[in-house]
Amino acid sequence: EAAERGGFEHFMMKEIHEQPTAIKNTINSLVTNGKVDLSKFEMDEETIKSISAITIVACGSAWHVGMAAQYVIEDIAGIPVRVELASEFRYRGPLLSENHLVIVVSQSGETADTLAALREAKERGVKTLAIVNVVGSSIAREADYVIYTVAGPEISVATTKAYSCQLVVTYLLALEFAAVRGKIEKDLYDKYMAEISRIPECIQKILDDKERLQWFAAKIANSKDIFFIGRGIDYAIGLEGSLKMKEISYIHSEAYAAGELKHGTISLIENGTLVIGLLCQDNLYEKTISNMVECKSRGAYLMGLAPYGRYEIEDTADFVTYVPKMDKHFVGSLEVVPLQLLGYYVSVARGLDVDKPRNLAKSVTVE
Ligand code: G6P
Repeated sequence: EAAERGGFEHFMMKEIHEQPTAIKNTINSLVTNGKVDLSKFEMDEETIKSISAITIVACGSAWHVGMAAQYVIEDIAGIPVRVELASEFRYRGPLLSENHLVIVVSQSGETADTLAALREAKERGVKTLAIVNVVGSSIAREADYVIYTVAGPEISVATTKAYSCQLVVTYLLALEFAAVRGKIEKDLYDKYMAEISRIPECIQKILDDKERLQWFAAKIANSKDIFFIGRGIDYAIGLEGSLKMKEISYIHSEAYAAGELKHGTISLIENGTLVIGLLCQDNLYEKTISNMVECKSRGAYLMGLAPYGRYEIEDTADFVTYVPKMDKHFVGSLEVVPLQLLGYYVSVARGLDVDKPRNLAKSVTVE
């Protein structure tokens, strides 16, 4: 097993480091000469033009991909998107119109609830598209259209590289849907494509600078609760950061849309409670900062996650980690990486079984 871990202490760390390559491979599998190649997943232009609404259905981290993707697809392609937990979708008799597209997202392609949701959608006669990592898996076989992430095998129960590849696939879908539906000028399409291509090298930069996060993780390893706050895509990434933290460190953590704090959660803030503010959406930066200040005045200990250049955040936060600047639609792909590292390092600092957290399975094939 040590050989399979390729010099890393745990599969999770190995897989975190594989992200630049996995994302590059996934992009290369779908993009030819700077254009998304539709023939790769066989969805014709007429079908794309006819889509009236999208529902993204998944579980766990794959559901978090949907939560981020909804902002990107709605904003770039102008198609209404709803995101649902597969375990809810399958039983609630969802209203689906004839031109609905249901996108299911799954690393394993075998998650029982996601597979059942896919079958439900098919029974309703709507088109289904699966974003899957495992070739030939049940979900890949049963969906009308399949896009594979090229993450390679993922061993660690806590997903990292598969999540990241799924997210990038949703960006490419948003771009291509926008192009086919005449919603985007060529210049902007090219600009977005160039940003997406930069993701692997930007993640590599974050990985090269990971020691500071290790130091910070040791400091916070005894936290009782951790709150992740952000707005828009920052909130969606907070959901994933929080899940990474709780599933492998066993520290209670929650992600909140920053504006919701005042409706309940803020009563949980005590002296020293760690609040992690996600600040990568430029237009929401001041809003989230003001929520962080509200937490601080109630005793919170603050970490900020912001793009390079936003150094004034150091006046507010006790610890700050930066990610390279990137277009707001895609910066989530960078922002999640320090949170993966933080969860990992806290788990290690607490002496836990990082790759096999208690009570969890890599693939949940029972209901
Ligand atoms: C399990 C895993 C998660 C994963 C979820 C959905 O809970 O521990 O990492 O996000 O299942 O799995 P899937 O294979 O459908 O992506």
